[in-house]
Amino acid sequence: MDDIVSQWYEDTKNVDEMQDWNPALKEWEKTVAGHFPSGARILDIGCGLGREAFALCDLGFEVVGIDISKEVITRVKQLSAAKEYKISFFDYDGEHLDFPNESFDVVLIWAQTLGLLYGEALKNRYLSECKRVLKTDGLLSFSTHDYNYLKENYPNCLDGRKFFPYANADIYWEAFDQATRLEERAAPPISSGRWQNDPPKAKIARKSTKITEI
Ligand SMILES: C[S@@+](CC[C@H](N)C(=O)[O-])C[C@H]1O[C@@H](n2cnc3c(N)ncnc32)[C@H](O)[C@@H]1O
Repeated sequence: MDDIVSQWYEDTKNVDEMQDWNPALKEWEKTVAGHFPSGARILDIGCGLGREAFALCDLGFEVVGIDISKEVITRVKQLSAAKEYKISFFDYDGEHLDFPNESFDVVLIWAQTLGLLYGEALKNRYLSECKRVLKTDGLLSFSTHDYNYLKENYPNCLDGRKFFPYANADIYWEAFDQATRLEERAAPPISSGRWQNDPPKAKIARKSTKITEI
């Protein structure tokens, strides 16, 4: 796992920033969650301070949250205990999913966290892990930054496909314009693929046979 990412998210001030985020699911996240089977067991990757995990738990899903940052997991466990949620939260190495095969109905990589898995090799390995822990007919959902949108709106924050939203910081998010290829790696074979008009792009991939467009 890249040190740039883990160092950033071990830093208290960067974790504090997440506290101020609107805790509600975004509209597109609500739409995606509407496709999850009732009572689904969900792996929330990059759970942060539990924004999605708490909301999904409120919707009746069983959620397991994992994050690369020990600081984040310490804090989200405290929040979870204070709110009396029954959610398991774990920190891990950022690469290897420590769960048996076919453990989850749904795997989420929301809030553009896929863009923090730098380089093709890591993304390939990671998506294979996601596929391994998904049940047959399970769903993988991820969101990414859209390269063309960033180019139009934040050209000064781009260096090639690297998006640097924070001034004077090394952390960046990889931007995507060919996420269909990522879906193919996560869930072959693919029957169709089409982007939404507005970023962030949300996709659901079915492990077995097809892509469901949102
Ligand atoms: C932008 S925050 C999003 C947090 C949360 N999903 C939300 O929307 O409020 C990204 C989170 O992903 C975590 N992260 C980064 N790389 C990760 C990885 N490889 N595996 C799991 N978590 C990761 C960070 O520590 C951070 O908590």
